[in-house]
Amino acid sequence: METDCYHSHSEDETHSFGRQFAETLAKGDIIALYGDLGAGKTEFVKGICDYFQVEDIVSSPTFTIMNQYFGTDSDDEEITIYHVDLYRIDSAKELEEIGFDDCMFSENAIKLVEWSEKAGEMLPKIHWTVDIAFASDNDNERIITISHPEKIANGTIAESSS
Ligand SMILES: Nc1ncnc2c1ncn2[C@@H]1O[C@H](COP(=O)(O)OP(=O)(O)OP(=O)(O)O)[C@@H](O)[C@H]1O
Ligand SMILES: [Mg+2]
Repeated sequence: METDCYHSHSEDETHSFGRQFAETLAKGDIIALYGDLGAGKTEFVKGICDYFQVEDIVSSPTFTIMNQYFGTDSDDEEITIYHVDLYRIDSAKELEEIGFDDCMFSENAIKLVEWSEKAGEMLPKIHWTVDIAFASDNDNERIITISHPEKIANGTIAESSS
């Protein structure tokens, strides 16, 4: 496993890290996003959706739990993106009700999961982990850590971090 660490100084920078990271993604990938309330998980997701030319407004799905977007990948093929926010989920039964399992095993889609710690054992083992942490010295600073047990994130992100 290789871990990459990036330093974001603004909402825009987090957005553009998400956009660049998306180049690495392939259909079927699961991205588990960790970080406190307001860390920037949704902003990172917006950057990913931007890369895939999603035209819908990407919002926090807190009230709907799961949003489905359609985008275009680098081969000009349509790609489905699921954006899931499990913040309000409290049990395995609720996960079942929203169709979490089916969503995770959808081979043709990219699955972005905020508050994935709530999925427990139902989160498939192989996934990208994106952790966004507040940096102590400044309200707008974040440390973004990305890892995957088998894959390596696109190196171009590292060049733009500081
Ligand atoms: N470096 C930064 N990266 C991302 N967001 C930042 C940064 N600096 C400040 N912000 C602000 O932090 C907030 C991040 O909001 P966002 O909805 O992306 O968080 P979240 O992690 O998805 O929260 P939630 O758990 O509530 O879904 C925004 O208001 C944004 O303007
Ligand atoms: Mg969010």
